[in-house]
Order: sequence, then C-alpha cells, then structure tokens
Amino acid sequence: MTTPQQADLQGKVALITGASSGIGAALARALAGRGAQVALAARRTERVHDLANEIGQNGGQALAITADVRDEDSVKAMVQATVDRFGGIDILIPNAGLGYRASIVESDTQRWKTMLDTNVFGVLLTLKYAIPHVVARGRGDVFLLSSVAGRVVATGGAGYSATKFAVNAIGEALRQEVSRKGVRVTLLEPGVVVTEFQQVADYPPGIIESWLGEHPPIQPEDIAQAVLAVLALPPHVVVNELLIRPTGQVSP
Ligand SMILES: NC(=O)c1ccc[n+]([C@@H]2O[C@H](COP(=O)([O-])OP(=O)(O)OC[C@H]3O[C@@H](n4cnc5c(N)ncnc54)[C@H](OP(=O)(O)O)[C@@H]3O)[C@@H](O)[C@H]2O)c1
Repeated sequence: MTTPQQADLQGKVALITGASSGIGAALARALAGRGAQVALAARRTERVHDLANEIGQNGGQALAITADVRDEDSVKAMVQATVDRFGGIDILIPNAGLGYRASIVESDTQRWKTMLDTNVFGVLLTLKYAIPHVVARGRGDVFLLSSVAGRVVATGGAGYSATKFAVNAIGEALRQEVSRKGVRVTLLEPGVVVTEFQQVADYPPGIIESWLGEHPPIQPEDIAQAVLAVLALPPHVVVNELLIRPTGQVSP
C-alpha cells in the first residue's frame, strides 16, 4: 500500500513558479526527489539555474526558466518551454508571490500594485495557460499558495490578505471547472514559514516573535512534506484546503 512517505512521482511533470527561493525551491527539491521532472520558474535566472543543476547532480531532471508571472508573454513562454521539454504538465504550482505589510493610509500604492499583479494576476495567467495541459493528461494536481492571511486578516494586512482571499476564490472557481476532468485542486494556507518572504515584505522586527513566542516557525520543507502527503492520496480523494500553522502560532 502507498503511504504518504512513498508518493511516487516517476513520469510526472511539475511546473513550479517562484522556484528560486523558499517554499517553491523546497517543493522543487521534494518533488524531484520523488522522481518528478520539474520546471522551475522565477525572475532570478541564476538562482533557478543553480537549483536545476543541483537537482541534476542528485539524479533528477529539472528545467530552469526565467519568467515574470506578471507578464502574459512570459507566462505563455514558460508553459511552452515546460511542455516542449517534458511533454506535458501533471502538477502545477503557481507559488510565486510576495507580501507587503502597512496600514491602508500609509501604504505605497506601487507596492500594492506589484503585489496584486504578482499574487492575483500572475496566478490567473499561470492557470489560464497551464491548466489546458494538466486537463489534457486526464488527471493532475494544482496547489495554490494562499495563506492563513487568506482566511484571517492581520493588522496591516489589507493588501496582502486581499490577494490571498482572491487566491481562495480563484481556487474554488478552478475546483468547479476542473474537478470533473480529474484534476485535484488544493489551497495551501500556511502560517509563518521562514523564507525570504519576510525581508521582501519588510516585516518589522519582533513581529514573528509576537505571533509565535518562543515557538519555531514552519520550514519550507514542512510545506513540501504536506504536498507529498496530499499527492500520495488515491486519485478519487482530494484535500481542497490545507491550513498549516506552526504549532505555536496562536494568531493570526
Ligand atoms: N513565507 C510565509 O510565511 C508564507 C506564508 C503563507 C503563504 N506564503 C506564500 O507562499 C508563496 C511563496 O513564498 P515564500 O515564502 O517561498 O517567499 P520567497 O522565499 O520570497 O519566494 C517567493 C518566490 O516568488 C518569486 N517571484 C516573486 N515575484 C515574481 C514574479 N513577478 N515572477 C516570477 N516569480 C516571482 C520569487 O522569485 P524571483 O524573485 O527570482 O522572481 C521567489 O522565488 C507566496 O505566494 C507567499 O505569499 C508564504
């Protein structure tokens, strides 16, 4: 019997956006470690190339793609490069995203726009162009990176939570569109995961400690473990939502 620890992804192709760092990079390593061929997309070319080389040296197959998910032509090219190299897409993970924390009045409007373009428009674009390839396989998996902020609004989180509530809405719409075509849709809703996210979002010092106390955050590899566990379930079973907090995170 297959157990979550034994998810076998030989012959599967995964496309992961935001693979140059954090959760995306951990997912790439974990899926490749189970035999999947992985397409790794992000803006920082050198980072995705280094990760693809690392996966190759460990016996896996990886393709590095420079892509900006806010740009429609770039997304089309990313999907095409994946299909040209690996022949299709079975596992799609539109993970690229960023945070920004500020009160509504004090917010920088350009940062809001960048975040909305990346977290919402970028996810929609990735789905629009990649989903037909997943559907063409007759079965597959999509993991969308929402957040605990897609359920609960923290102070200063108007813009970020707006994007992640939107991702939840997109995930539900997608579920309705593709579930009868054999595609499983899972919303991942992590709490605090330590990555470059906190620097990019300009989190003020002490904020994570105020949420976690002395308790440890989630590591990106923990999210990858959860994804492997979902993938190991039989095809007729889908986990539609996964809220994953560090055990010590009381709020948000
Ligand atoms: N860390 C957390 O606590 C946490 C919690 C809940 C949800 N999440 C979500 O998890 C996802 C991954 O975050 P992370 O924690 O792994 O953060 P991270 O380490 O900062 O990684 C973000 C990734 O997104 C990519 N990216 C950003 N803008 C992009 C663009 N326009 N086009 C293509 N790629 C782009 C970055 O690559 P380049 O800069 O190279 O393009 C990077 O690979 C995000 O959607 C985030 O909202 C994170």
